[in-house]
Amino acid sequence: MTAQSAASPASTAYRGEVTFADQDRILVLDFGGQTAQLIARRVREQNVLCQMVRFDLSAARIKELKPKGIILSGGPASVYEAGSPHPDPEVFKLGIPTLGICYGLQLCAQALGGVVAPGDKREFGLATCEVDTTNPLFKDVPQSQRVWMSHGDQVLNLSELFDSIGHTSTCPHAAAQHKTLPMYGLQFHPEVTHTQFGGQILKNFVRNICGCTGTWNIETLIEREITSIRARVGKRRVICGLSGGVDSSVVAALLFRAIGSQLSCIFVNNGLLRKGEAEEVSYEFGDHFKVDLHVADARELFLTELAGVTDPQKKRKIIGKLFIDVFKDEAKSIPDAHFLAQGTLYPDVIESGANPDGPAATIKAHHNVGGLPAELGFELIEPLRDFFKDEVRRMGEALGLPEQLVWRHPFPGPGLAVRCLGEITEERLQVLRECDAILIEELRAANLYREIQQAFAVLLPVQTVGVMGDARTYESTIALRAVTTDDFMTADWFRMPHDLLQKISTRITNSVRGVNRVVYDISSKPPSTIEWE
Ligand code: XMP
Repeated sequence: MTAQSAASPASTAYRGEVTFADQDRILVLDFGGQTAQLIARRVREQNVLCQMVRFDLSAARIKELKPKGIILSGGPASVYEAGSPHPDPEVFKLGIPTLGICYGLQLCAQALGGVVAPGDKREFGLATCEVDTTNPLFKDVPQSQRVWMSHGDQVLNLSELFDSIGHTSTCPHAAAQHKTLPMYGLQFHPEVTHTQFGGQILKNFVRNICGCTGTWNIETLIEREITSIRARVGKRRVICGLSGGVDSSVVAALLFRAIGSQLSCIFVNNGLLRKGEAEEVSYEFGDHFKVDLHVADARELFLTELAGVTDPQKKRKIIGKLFIDVFKDEAKSIPDAHFLAQGTLYPDVIESGANPDGPAATIKAHHNVGGLPAELGFELIEPLRDFFKDEVRRMGEALGLPEQLVWRHPFPGPGLAVRCLGEITEERLQVLRECDAILIEELRAANLYREIQQAFAVLLPVQTVGVMGDARTYESTIALRAVTTDDFMTADWFRMPHDLLQKISTRITNSVRGVNRVVYDISSKPPSTIEWE
């Protein structure tokens, strides 16, 4: 996500309406589990609209939203602890099919008279679960399967209320069905990929048990968005900030499809972009789509203001402020603009707490936000507010954006400034750009780019000794970083094949003047961060 695409304080355009009123929908009551968002993503992969909502959303509001099913997520608390999150007890009387996952199962059990207590030991990790394949929840899955367990509590009298439909060697009710209500519970997490058939189990719940038809698909979504953009915008003009990243590109492509020449795009070239990025934006939106594209070439301004600055937070501040100034100036050249489009995504909305139905902003206090301030005076339009990143990428593909752009790794708003450690000069940026381009090119050639969520080069402020021919050199060091991650909050370093590392290193030291050493970063997050600054 880039600075332009992040949620801004002005993005609370929620009016209490039920969006997508005619769609089958599943609600996930979020009890703070780390993988709660994954539940919503997995359900949406079944072409079913799934929304995350506050754990204590009133049963009356839930009724208004007309869900075909409710999923209670896992969570870190214990249901018997004072102050632990509980749903409105009326939720259990709605007669809507319900699936409780882990903590969610314990809540269901407790609300219906079960006794929850700490287990003998915490169960965490992989287990083999034997399931009853005649139960609709386990249609088309094998009887024995690998599941991911993570729980400390257990329901003592579960068997009085629920029939067991799955067990592990230590957990007799790893999966359970209520004796009379349309209610299911799983002690394991179907939403994580470690659970072998988790996707199928969730599919069974939403399709077979809740009866969702699965019409939430990208083409119809695009059509709906286009209709609603046209209705809202009328004959007025929309400005869209382009960053080169996927979110703002999809917003622009969508708006262009909806309102054509009423769209004006602003692209601020801050001189801190990757190799070829500015040209690509100009080509894609200017030459190809023929959008009214305004390029603000502010490279010199940024370089001048950043000269001599080495502190990363200072760099961020300067860049953030300049970006707004330049954007504002450029926007003045589009006097009839009424709307400002932003690439706010569903996770931003969830995490910013901007939607009163949505879960509270509990987990993510993150610096990956920025964006444009409300005082620019435009009305905000955020056509991606209902979508997850993977859906946005699929939209991008369907809108005809090139694969390379749609699947591009995220790039921080301050760009190469936070990857050029120490002082920023055009010469150093040039070295970094070349090395970064080699890394990305080789990852693409090895078909690994899409297996990695973020990869980049970092120019270190250290010179080391090397030898070239008969001469000693004293030149720069480049660090390569590649990580795999689900949500960028935690990340693992990518186990890059040694041959590939060798190839990249050789290409860099042979072809980039000024670099005589390449190192590979093998730190995970935590304790490290993804970026170096
Ligand atoms: P860290 O380094 O915190 O990065 O592990 C997590 C994600 O956030 C991105 N990042 C930023 N994005 N402005 C941004 O727009 C920033 O200042 C910034 N710093 C880090 C980083 O690229 C990664 O995807």
